Amino acid sequence: MKRIFYLFILFPLYVFSQNQSREELILREGWKFIKNDDQLFKNENFDDSQWEQISLPHDWAIKGPFDKKYDLQKVAIFQDGEKKATEKSGRTGALPYIGTGWYRNTIHIDENLDSKQYLLQFDGAMSEAQVFINGKKVGEHPYGYAYFYFDITSYLQEGDNTLAVRLHNEPKSSRWYPGAGIYRNVTLITKNESNFEQWGTTITTPFVDDRQAKVVVNSQVNGDVDQVTFEIVNHENEVIAKGTSNTKYGNQFESILEVKDPQLWSPESPYLYQTKITAYQKGKVTDEIEKTFGIRTISFTADKGFELNGKQRKFKGVCLHHDLGPIGIAINRAALKRQLVIMKEMGADAIRTAHNMPSIEQMELCDEIGLMVIAESFDEWKKPKVDNGYHRFFDDWAQKDIENLVRRLKNHPSIVMWSAGNEVPDQFGSVGVKRAKWLQDIFHKEDPTRPVTVGMDQVKAVMESGFGAILDIPGLNYRTHLYDEAFEKFPQGFVLGSETASTVSSRGVYKFPVEEFKKKKYDDFQSSSYDYEACPWSNIPEDDFILQDDKPWVLGEFVWTGFDYLGEPSPYNEEWPSRSSYFGICDLAGMPKDRFYLYKSRWNTAEETLHILPHWNWEGREGETTPVFVYTNYNSAELFINGKSQGVRTKDKDTRLDRYRLRWMDVKYQAGTVKVVAYDDAGNKVAEKEVHTAGKPHHFKLEADRKTINADGEDLSFVTVSVVDKEGNLCPNANIPLTFNVQGQGSFKAVCNGDATSLELFHLPKMKTFNGKLVVLVQSKQIEGKAILKVKGKGVKQKSIEIAVAKD
Ligand code: GAL
Repeated sequence: MKRIFYLFILFPLYVFSQNQSREELILREGWKFIKNDDQLFKNENFDDSQWEQISLPHDWAIKGPFDKKYDLQKVAIFQDGEKKATEKSGRTGALPYIGTGWYRNTIHIDENLDSKQYLLQFDGAMSEAQVFINGKKVGEHPYGYAYFYFDITSYLQEGDNTLAVRLHNEPKSSRWYPGAGIYRNVTLITKNESNFEQWGTTITTPFVDDRQAKVVVNSQVNGDVDQVTFEIVNHENEVIAKGTSNTKYGNQFESILEVKDPQLWSPESPYLYQTKITAYQKGKVTDEIEKTFGIRTISFTADKGFELNGKQRKFKGVCLHHDLGPIGIAINRAALKRQLVIMKEMGADAIRTAHNMPSIEQMELCDEIGLMVIAESFDEWKKPKVDNGYHRFFDDWAQKDIENLVRRLKNHPSIVMWSAGNEVPDQFGSVGVKRAKWLQDIFHKEDPTRPVTVGMDQVKAVMESGFGAILDIPGLNYRTHLYDEAFEKFPQGFVLGSETASTVSSRGVYKFPVEEFKKKKYDDFQSSSYDYEACPWSNIPEDDFILQDDKPWVLGEFVWTGFDYLGEPSPYNEEWPSRSSYFGICDLAGMPKDRFYLYKSRWNTAEETLHILPHWNWEGREGETTPVFVYTNYNSAELFINGKSQGVRTKDKDTRLDRYRLRWMDVKYQAGTVKVVAYDDAGNKVAEKEVHTAGKPHHFKLEADRKTINADGEDLSFVTVSVVDKEGNLCPNANIPLTFNVQGQGSFKAVCNGDATSLELFHLPKMKTFNGKLVVLVQSKQIEGKAILKVKGKGVKQKSIEIAVAKD
């Protein structure tokens, strides 16, 4: 079958910008893929008819199978304080990401090439990309998270052109699951010769008050552009400011526009404006672009800490890795949005894109939803953390990668800070200080409006060497015991918790006795959801809360992590099968663990939180001590077991473990009802909640995060399946094999139960529930109608849910 992209027969789905003067075509369909290596694959006449037909975005490794042999590493993890090398099996997710893969497609050009410029833009390709057109190498870009583009005009001919992309992943190249393949968009951009430079428009707002904002729009151009016009458009699609520039400074046109009564961007009110920018040559339009931006101010001072729009606040942030759980790294807007919405519901107002350049879609969503961002760049500079990490490319590529990062993302109002790196071993020694300065200077040159941080774990070393002192924002990863000293020694007058907590837990798993532990391991390779377990270098949430609440100079925190991610299964790095993390506030399927409610009780005080743990199905523990914790925004509550009061608990500012949680440590288990009654400060009953001992599994409860999805072949509904008893109580010990079937205008995409030790494959329509729950992903087709998901399991009444599939 011939695969052709008719450039000028436009599929609306794939075009994100189309006007008279330029076209931007996302190359989604028509790709062929093979996991194999042969330089002949680049040639036009190579017969790829037997290759797999795929569409982008694509992650070639996520379908597994899981196997400990993949990237089995015998290493000592220095960052974890290890001295002796041991076998680490699930460190990068135990999925087949290593090796070489080739992608091929055809670009059809049916117009005169002479007057056009063609760019091929990659939002990210994992990794070591080499790009060929008609057998000739166009260029390469090694870093898998970087954005890059090539001018391919001189490689093209009229008619069919063969595009071939070779990707290669080395073993031991990552500390987590990096994924594999062209996992973000590839766009073919066709412009006239006189045009706007790609990523060459900068929008800044150097003056903002209640009455007016000064918006400076600067556009770099190519060719013979002699005039540029600028327009600002508000939400109502009204043009609210206009400017024209006939003066070219070098290759730049600039205009200062006034926005009266500006609507400021903030997490609480993420107002966005559009600019329309048009280039002319002798009165004729030659190029036109639209950019989204926000009006807001940021400042970091010793006096007031962090201020957004002149108001002091502390970051309520989470770190997020790039994978999307069961669908791996292949970018999907619905999956990304769901993650961000869940974090927002918890009350988070910021994310840190650990430890690399984020997807464009994630930044657009943060702008829209209202989440501030630390956009990070690297996990490694020149000194290695893993044998084949970024240090191999640092000298040749670091500057280019940062430039591309900033040029591509600088107009996103959500980004309030850049991060030049995470726990880089270059923290040691004077060369590292120079390197930090060099990198920070590149950021400053590209973007004088935002500060730069580095997440530092070698706090003693960076206090000594000056590394921490030269940074705009000193970021501390863990090391809560060194905050005071860092504040004393660093000159900035503030400290950011760039990475905090790293508490470990498994959803629905509770261990006894309930005690605080570091690196606690159990035979089932799970961690306890009493939220008392952390790693040797890390801590439980309250240690950070105390610093946030008691030290005005702490700028806020970024919790490790919002969601579990593939790889890094601490504390079970050496145990198989264990292939994903335990750090998440939510599990790999995106289901909240108990900790979600602890953060929510603090961060989202506009909503009531009254959450009881553990579950109440402890057959065999009758009469044994089974502590009950309540995570709540109320100060005081009374607990009842089967109607019998267990006493009132009140948060106590002076006791570390009682300051943020209400705890009943001596409760004796007895099947029945756990009830909590919350009181306000005057002692009035304000809310109550119950948890019941569940009976036998009886039926399923199906809850879709979205009941209507877009008929675009991409959108997803996430359906949480819970096994419940006759009365609808969750059966918290139900681990039942289920099967799934989707009919109508949807298809089964993936399933995930959040169990870090499960080797069941995400893309097959069957999986066991883990502690009574799992999540099924239903994907829309491109036709309107209904998608019907049917869930079956032995001994439980089958159930269906209908999801509407409609054009947006
Ligand atoms: C940090 C590191 C993260 C992750 C985390 C686990 O030191 O920056 O990438 O490894 O530890 O606690």
